[in-house]
Parts: sequence; structure tokens; C-alpha cells
Amino acid sequence: DDIHILIIPGSLRSDSLNATLAAFASRQAHVLGLKTTLMDLRRLRLPIYDGDLEASTGVPKEALQLQQAIAGCDAVLVVTPEYNGFPTPLVINAFDWLSRITATESQAPGLSTTANKPVALMSASPGPGGALRSMNFLRQYLQMAFQMIVVPQQFALGRAHEAFDEAGELKDARSVQSVKTVLTAVAALAGALRAARQAEQH
Ligand code: FNR
Repeated sequence: DDIHILIIPGSLRSDSLNATLAAFASRQAHVLGLKTTLMDLRRLRLPIYDGDLEASTGVPKEALQLQQAIAGCDAVLVVTPEYNGFPTPLVINAFDWLSRITATESQAPGLSTTANKPVALMSASPGPGGALRSMNFLRQYLQMAFQMIVVPQQFALGRAHEAFDEAGELKDARSVQSVKTVLTAVAALAGALRAARQAEQH
């Protein structure tokens, strides 16, 4: 089977630069022979984490959908803007809910689904830094709280409002190469982990 990457854009905006980068990365992944699924966090409609809501009705079923999507892929790619130096609450809130899923008969704990899952990071911003700081935080958060394996390769797209042509393609060849490098790295790790699991079973 092809390596399957779940791509999560961290912005809801219809003209989102990060969603545009995520879509570009998805097309590049197909060129590299990878399968992708785009996760639309707007469709999930997760409320802001609320312990009272959790106590009365449990973790929203939409968080279970996110868990299933992560369980069903070989690797995750998060493409997020930076708000005041940090990843968007949209991304953090989704993962915070995921972390609250406990073991039931039908469902494994949320954190068991993310453990050892490869993840790659990209970010985009109209500023020169390309939202780089958001990735520093996400790297720590996904590694330390979720035991995900964040690949060292990452890509920050600066001046992102000028970076795409009308078809949504990245104009700069070096940027295209950076996207490919990140995808190749996370796919290689996912492939190696899959091979190791298969070797264990034999
Ligand atoms: C921003 N923006 C921003 N940009 C940046 O490079 N560093 C930053 O710290 C911030 N901080 C920030 C805070 C808040 C609350 C907003 C709304 C915006 C600008 C941001 O990069 C820009 O709006 C992007 O276009 C947002 O990403 P999408 O929606 O285009 O993907």
C-alpha cells in the first residue's frame, strides 16, 4: 500500500495561505507516489475544550473522528499559521480534545493513537519568518505530550501572499524542493516504521 499522509491545515479562512500550502503539498505528495487525505477542521466543529462539557456528555464524537483519521494514516502533516508566535488555537484545541479520549470497548486512548506516529510540520505567513515560531512550539507539543515523532525537516513559507501563482502552485523552485524534502522525509520514516512492524509480525 502507498504511504498515506493525513494533512491538517491550521486555519479556517477560505483564502488561507496555509490551506493553499497544504493543498500544494498534497499535490506534490501525489507526484511522489504518496496518498493523502485533507482534514477539514471546520467540518469537525469541535467546541473549545470545556471540562464541564466533558464531564456531562464526554469527549465530542468529532474528536473520535480525528482519532480515527490519525489511526488510519501512516503519517500526519500539520500546516499552520502563527498567531502571536504560537500555533492556532484551532490546532491545539483539536489535539487537546484528542488527548482526553480514554479507552473504551470500541476506542483506544487518544494518546495511544498518536504515539510513534510520524509527523511533519509546515507553516506559512505573509511575514518574512513564514510562521516559523509556530513550528517550534508544535514540535515540542506533539513530541512531548503526544509522543509523535516529528521529523527534523520542516518548511516555513515567508511572504506567502506573493508565493503562489493563480493555480496555487509555488513559484519559487527552492520552496517546491523544500516541500518535497519534508514530504520525502516523513514518508521515509513512515515506511521504515511500517517495515519494522511487518518484520516483527514474521
Ligand atoms: C497573525 N499573523 C501573524 N503572522 C506572523 O508571521 N507572526 C505572528 O505572530 C502573527 N500573529 C497573528 C495573530 C493573529 C491573531 C492573526 C489573526 C494573525 C498574520 C497571519 O500570518 C496571517 O493572518 C495569515 O494569513 C494567517 O494564515 P492563513 O489564514 O492565511 O492560513
